[in-house]
Amino acid sequence: MIPKHTIDQIFEAAIIEEVVGEFVVLKKRGANLLGNCPFHNEKTPSFTVSPAKGIYKCFGCGKAGNSVNFIMEHEHYTYPEALRYLANKYQIEIEELEETDAQKQAANEKESLFIVSNFAANYFQKQLHETQEGRSIGLSYFVERGFREDIIKKFELGYNPDSWDAFTAEALAQGYQLEFLEKSGLTIVKEQKHFDRFKGRVMFPIHNLSGRVLGFGGRILKTDPKAAKYVNSPESEIYHKSNVLYGIYFAKKSIIEQDNCFLVEGYTDVISLHQSGVENVVASSGTSLTEGQIRLISRYTQNITILYDGDAAGIKASFRGIDMILQEGMNVRVVLFPDGEDPDSFAKKHNATELTTYIKEHTQDFISFKTDVLIKEVGNDPIKRAELIKEIVASIAVIPDQIKRSVYTKECSNLLSIPENALINETNKILRKNLSKTTQQNIPDEIETYTPISKDEKIEQESDSKHWEYEIIRLLITYGDKIIALEVVDNENKKQEQQVATAVYIISSIAEDQLVFDNPLYQQIVDEYTSFLNKEIIPSHQDFINHTNAEINSIAISILSNKYDISENWQKHSITVTKEEEQIKMAAVNTVFAFKLSKLNQLIEKLQNELKTCSNDEDMMIIVADLTRYQQVKKQLAAQLGRIILR
Ligand code: CTP
Ligand code: MN
Repeated sequence: MIPKHTIDQIFEAAIIEEVVGEFVVLKKRGANLLGNCPFHNEKTPSFTVSPAKGIYKCFGCGKAGNSVNFIMEHEHYTYPEALRYLANKYQIEIEELEETDAQKQAANEKESLFIVSNFAANYFQKQLHETQEGRSIGLSYFVERGFREDIIKKFELGYNPDSWDAFTAEALAQGYQLEFLEKSGLTIVKEQKHFDRFKGRVMFPIHNLSGRVLGFGGRILKTDPKAAKYVNSPESEIYHKSNVLYGIYFAKKSIIEQDNCFLVEGYTDVISLHQSGVENVVASSGTSLTEGQIRLISRYTQNITILYDGDAAGIKASFRGIDMILQEGMNVRVVLFPDGEDPDSFAKKHNATELTTYIKEHTQDFISFKTDVLIKEVGNDPIKRAELIKEIVASIAVIPDQIKRSVYTKECSNLLSIPENALINETNKILRKNLSKTTQQNIPDEIETYTPISKDEKIEQESDSKHWEYEIIRLLITYGDKIIALEVVDNENKKQEQQVATAVYIISSIAEDQLVFDNPLYQQIVDEYTSFLNKEIIPSHQDFINHTNAEINSIAISILSNKYDISENWQKHSITVTKEEEQIKMAAVNTVFAFKLSKLNQLIEKLQNELKTCSNDEDMMIIVADLTRYQQVKKQLAAQLGRIILR
């Protein structure tokens, strides 16, 4: 039991942004902090932390709470476990009775598995450093591999003696239960007898995000062709392989600092790179890369660099990894090591500077990497060349974000000297195929708007709010600081011309109706415009190109790197507007109207759906009244929109 006054002390000490900040990258947004929700998969942040209120809330999945709730939810801890975790973090001493045997039993199963794993990790370390056998066989092996003493200690490497049940016997003698020894996989029970799973192996403990041991990898030392080189802990209540990355606990701080995560194949690669000073590195050891593992990384950075062996198997594995990472909406780069070298062996043969220089000089984005690899097989054969293009376009097509897709399409077009249009067509073919395969919402939502501002569609059909949200952002960033002349009606009902920046017009029109963007990144851009304008500053696109949020600056860059010809938008209505200022004005006025109309349509649709499921007369009347009002506004808006365009 933890006494009440200690609990109060813990609550007082725990600072929400520090507690959450250990697991989620948080960026300041006004008075709050914002990050990607760790409880559900999301690509744009909706997880908010309020330091003033001491709480977090996710606007995506609805999870909310205080520091203790967060740790319980995130680490799957019980209430007392979470309190202990925080007490430890803030160095608050908990006065409580020594655990009795009964309490040991009462601890839940997960906690028991953690306790057994912790005991095992300590035992294996003791064996490695303090016993004759451990030192002469295990420790000498690590030293021979070139692992430094401090690194061996940091990663808590150990040794399981080479006898059938040395570990299990000791654990049982110390009062640990066979049930949990077996469930953790440390002990194998066969016909009433128990054996050590990791007999005669050097041990690599695997840590969770908060540094607790979840499982182990054990490497054999003898050259026995029949035995597996590595044996890993089986799945258990605490060890879910597909959601665990080796090294993440030691890497997370550096991943955030570097805003990049190196992905390697195994334990030894992680350890060797650390030893060379490269600490933002994790391995998916024991399994091939999974979605869960990629999402784990995505809490800390959107950038992954795959470091693989340059042999055929390594390249194949990297191709698979690339597509999975792209599919999660993240950025992926690749470094290939010379054939026959893995990061571990390379790090051993070169000093730290040579290693980092090699990585720097050999980092390729996935398009040029794939192109380089594949082009070797192609030569001048046109059929093979077409296959190569398809192969690369297939990777581009899995990227959920349309803007990123178009950036990569451009690069691919340059690299292979293929017209961009051909690539866009090819990408759209794949997207359409996937669309008909899955009728779910999993589909990238930008398909319809892939070609910006289609020329032959009626404005009505385009009144899709996603499209207009994007157009608003595009106008703001491209022309926000340009001055336009608007006709306004003053107090005496006289028409007057007023010079305002386009951004002022757009932002105040949106604010007027309190419209909210569905896309939180766009909303963030609008919010930032608003706060700039409140300070009487008109932001330029420079403020967004150099934005600290990588997603925002990639939006800005892609918007500005696409030639944006406003006049083509009006040609379909046979309007010729010559002066740029006039063009911007028309674009701004019409886009704002179309945007409002699309939002209104959204609202009407929502109400109509509510009406369908509504069973209460009173509610129904309110909905119908709202609907009627909105329909009227819509009519007015639509009429205005038509006038403006066709005037
Ligand atoms: N690995 C694994 N299971 C295997 C082989 C390898 O999990 N059967 C992983 C390990 O995490 C290891 C990494 O892949 O750290 C690299 O493999 P490898 O080079 O074969 O292992 P090393 O221990 O480095 O062996 P060697 O000394 O022969 O290079
Ligand atoms: Mn190796």
